[in-house]
Amino acid sequence: MEKIIEENKQGTSLVLEQKESNNKKLFIESYGCQMNFSDSEIVASILHNEGYNTTQILEEADLVLVNTCSIRDKAEQTVRKRLEKYNAVKKINPDMKVGVLGCMAERLKSKFLEEEKIVDMVVGPDAYKDLPNLLKEVGEGRDAINVILSKDETYGDIAPVRLNSNGVTAFVSITRGCDNMCTFCVVPFTRGRERSREPQSIMDEIADLWSRGFKEVTLLGQNVDSYLWYGGGLKKDYDKATDMQKATAVDFAQLLDMCAIAFPKMRFRFSTSNPQDMHEEVLHVIAKHHNICNYIHLPVQSGSTRILKEMNRQHTREEYMELVDKIKNIIPDISLSQDIITGFPTETEEDHQDTLSLLNYVRYDFGFMFAYSERPGTLAARKLEDDVPEEVKKRRLQEIVDLQQDIAYQRTARFVGQTVEVLIEKSSKRSDLHWSGRNNQNTVVVFPKENYKVGEFVMVKVNECTTATLIGEAVGYSEMN
Ligand code: SAH
Ligand code: F3S
Repeated sequence: MEKIIEENKQGTSLVLEQKESNNKKLFIESYGCQMNFSDSEIVASILHNEGYNTTQILEEADLVLVNTCSIRDKAEQTVRKRLEKYNAVKKINPDMKVGVLGCMAERLKSKFLEEEKIVDMVVGPDAYKDLPNLLKEVGEGRDAINVILSKDETYGDIAPVRLNSNGVTAFVSITRGCDNMCTFCVVPFTRGRERSREPQSIMDEIADLWSRGFKEVTLLGQNVDSYLWYGGGLKKDYDKATDMQKATAVDFAQLLDMCAIAFPKMRFRFSTSNPQDMHEEVLHVIAKHHNICNYIHLPVQSGSTRILKEMNRQHTREEYMELVDKIKNIIPDISLSQDIITGFPTETEEDHQDTLSLLNYVRYDFGFMFAYSERPGTLAARKLEDDVPEEVKKRRLQEIVDLQQDIAYQRTARFVGQTVEVLIEKSSKRSDLHWSGRNNQNTVVVFPKENYKVGEFVMVKVNECTTATLIGEAVGYSEMN
């Protein structure tokens, strides 16, 4: 433990956890959302106990696992290219086994084994504890599959092995699944119903990270504001909870408050917030604690009330704007980011203009913008024709991206001249003489290294900026150290 903290101070960026007695090699890759990257750390932990250490070299692996994403068609195509690559390596090393994990495994199930014959094992997001059995089957020459979705699996009892870690920032998952059924989205089908992880196991994981020198935790869930632990299973069954369970239930505002108090020198972030579930208490908890970042990722998807309704988002344009007003009132220094989908079925030029004007109203610091990609099995795919032509989607997307870029530059520029608190994460990509970290909002800050170390909180005077990066110089340590 001591050793890792020491390494962080020296700026070593990789914390690899290896067991000497392990003699098999696991190559694991992740695509898609942060939850997938976090799940891969759980998988690596389970396999750690089965004799596998991780390797970064594909060619030397005994087992290759790919944690996959189904959110857009392009995400699936990327994974297919990787599978082709693994199979090319397998021709040279026939003993190597290949497994598909995550959302594509759940969506395509046995198709991978029957039609495509390119993998040995298919494992859905709730079945990772079954990996030891599945590997045994594969070892005996049989194809192995488990895509059963669970109503209570949260992997709360598994201590993740941190992969590719900078030793400073980590993700801790707090909910799994999603009950929202946005009509465009495949997640409720691939990740199942929403369930919350027991608070004590969350706190234990954070305590472990703290003791190993980590300084920032992002609490993860498809919809963190909907976190509700009551000692039962699914969120949708809360009505059937006993009085005792209800009296001791913990919601997201309480969980965040507990974390901030228990670990006053750990910085907290969270993702993702769904506008319909964001309650005012959470905003007050953020405002109250210096160690909870003033940053909310608040996907909107569209600025048009009519499209929001078609998407089954549970709010109107006006309600979203009211929520943004409330957030800015309670946390004046907040940074916001968005997800937007353009070209959803039936979207008109007028709907598109509504999205652009919403960007101007909210003034997000940055965003993730996508052209609509029809996903088989979703409500939108079943009920609505994908009727916005590709070139129109492309043009609208470009207009949204361009406007967001302009706004982002202005938002980033607001920090020029200010002194901001930065947690040092790693060397800057552009220059080995500069550190890179993020301020309390979420903006990247680079500055000369001097004698500062990875994992330290420093105050940085900002002199200039680009669209997404602040450039400055350190003026001393912050009170968070
Ligand atoms: N609540 C989740 C959302 C996951 S999907 C979270 O934790 O972030 C991330 C984003 O992908 C969504 O917000 C949406 O903007 C986009 N997305 C989802 N389905 C899509 C589709 N069919 N086509 C294009 N973009 C999509
Ligand atoms: Fe998907 Fe909507 Fe849930 S975007 S993950 S169904 S909140």
